Amino acid sequence: MKKTILLTGGAGYIGSHTCVELLNKDYDVIVVDNLSNSSSESLKRVEEITGEKPVFYKINVLKKEDFRNVFKKHAIHAVIHFAGLKAVGESTEIPLKYYHNNITGTLTLLSLMQEYNVKNIVFSSSATVYGEPATLPITEDFPTSTANPYGSTKLFIEEILKDLYKSDNTWNIALLRYFNPVGAHPSGKIGEDPNDIPNNLMPYISQVAIGKLKELSVFGNDYSTHDGTGVRDYIHVTDLAKGHIAALSKLDTAPGLIIYNLGTGQGYSVLELVNAFAKITGKAIPYKIVNRRLGDIAACYANPQKAAKELNWKTQFGLNEIVRDAWNWQTNNPDGYR
Ligand code: NAD
Ligand code: WQD
Repeated sequence: MKKTILLTGGAGYIGSHTCVELLNKDYDVIVVDNLSNSSSESLKRVEEITGEKPVFYKINVLKKEDFRNVFKKHAIHAVIHFAGLKAVGESTEIPLKYYHNNITGTLTLLSLMQEYNVKNIVFSSSATVYGEPATLPITEDFPTSTANPYGSTKLFIEEILKDLYKSDNTWNIALLRYFNPVGAHPSGKIGEDPNDIPNNLMPYISQVAIGKLKELSVFGNDYSTHDGTGVRDYIHVTDLAKGHIAALSKLDTAPGLIIYNLGTGQGYSVLELVNAFAKITGKAIPYKIVNRRLGDIAACYANPQKAAKELNWKTQFGLNEIVRDAWNWQTNNPDGYR
């Protein structure tokens, strides 16, 4: 029998790509999303890619009684919990909104899962929980810390899930710490669709390349990295989506509480990304060096060996495919889903 997976936040960037991979693997998919940072058009595109339609409920996970109906109606095998607000800068301006949405939203979900005896969950955590690492690459046993309210919500939710597991080890919990998700589905039909001027590097570069933004501001060239600009582990969103399937399989075969880095293990600097983008697209990317962005760290990249060994999961796409697919998405959808 097909297993039914509930995706909170499944209309969003990573969620929609995960829908595709789940449907391709013959899971039934239910999406709960309030569309606060996404469009239901993404799910139509998922159907165009896979030929199958996820069941969709426009529900805020904070609205427990509305959300309860989903648990009443469907026999859910596992939940992948993407729903959350993710803008780091905004989280420092309106922290209560972030704490409420991300943490109370998770508590509401977990209490319904408990009530309906759905005890398998994969949680979207982030490399941000490592704070500024003392050494690189980062393994899962590195100390955790937080530098902004967004990061705090990720770390606190991890702690909540660990406490839950301690209290009842019949729960099966995967904490997936994503590095920097970028790129788009190779079909060019789904991708990242920022509402406003992008905060993140890759969508910003794409919009400069297509002429929507004038130039990139490079936040500092005086870091202790090989060219002075920040180094990150950019992971293709399709690889990341497949990591969720690997985690679900692991929870089915070897239950417990598991923590994995989802990254490539390779760090690229801001200027390396700019150059790769210019080379692959043939477009000039004008940029200027400006001051460091508050809260940024010099370098961050994963040691992905644990996931390789235990989940049998590895990234398949490199920087060329990342840029190719980001550009394909951008040129096919210059205004995103609008
Ligand atoms: P996204 O904003 O595209 O997707 C999140 C989705 O959750 C959106 O569709 C939004 O409408 C929905 N949502 C938010 N609050 C909700 C609520 N109360 N009820 C119902 N739906 C709600 O973001 P994404 O990049 O796809 O990120 C998915 C998850 O991964 C988030 O939890 C994010 O914090 C985490 N994450 C993202 C990154 C990244 O760089 N993109 C890195 C690490 C972790
Ligand atoms: C990458 C590099 C910037 C924009 C964020 C969150 C993190 C995680 C992933 C959710 C850095 C530089 C950027 C620009 C630039 N999200 N940059 N000019 O900050 O590594 O991670 O997204 O969990 O929590 O903090 O990603 O893409 O913003 O920045 O020079 O206009 O690009 O300084 O070195 P970041 P990013």
